[in-house]
Amino acid sequence: MMSQREKINLEKFELIIDSFQNIKGPLIPILHEAENMYGYIPIEVQNLISKKLKISNAEINGVASFYSMFHTNPTGLHHIGVCTGTTCHLNGSGKLLKHLEHKLGIREGETTSDGQFTIVPVKCIGNCDAAPNITIDGKVYNAVTITQLDELIIECSDK
Ligand code: FES
Repeated sequence: MMSQREKINLEKFELIIDSFQNIKGPLIPILHEAENMYGYIPIEVQNLISKKLKISNAEINGVASFYSMFHTNPTGLHHIGVCTGTTCHLNGSGKLLKHLEHKLGIREGETTSDGQFTIVPVKCIGNCDAAPNITIDGKVYNAVTITQLDELIIECSDK
């Protein structure tokens, strides 16, 4: 069976917020928890955080939208990104991205309808020596070929 994201459960999330109440600067770690559980930071969770931490909704939404590691719309279980920085581009990352988009039937920034994959935009990740690079769920893969990309997608689909 395919894995799924957790369903939104505000009571459960309230306990998570409570567990961070006594640390300094709890907002970012709490947003990370939400992102990990749901694949994005749902508006009702933002509102709950706002109420509990006494930070305005606007500020929380601003932080969630500012950092590229956070999403404010639903995303897939696996995040795949092809680096489109200059060196990766010169080493064929454009072809990799096209292949990925074609294979998954979505464009960069979109999520497959089964909720398994989101293609996330990736700019230079400082690993130009090993271009072209891709990232899958935060892990970097170097000098990737189209065949390897296909294999990595299959590996991910099984998880
Ligand atoms: S351009 Fe891709 S890692 Fe630098």
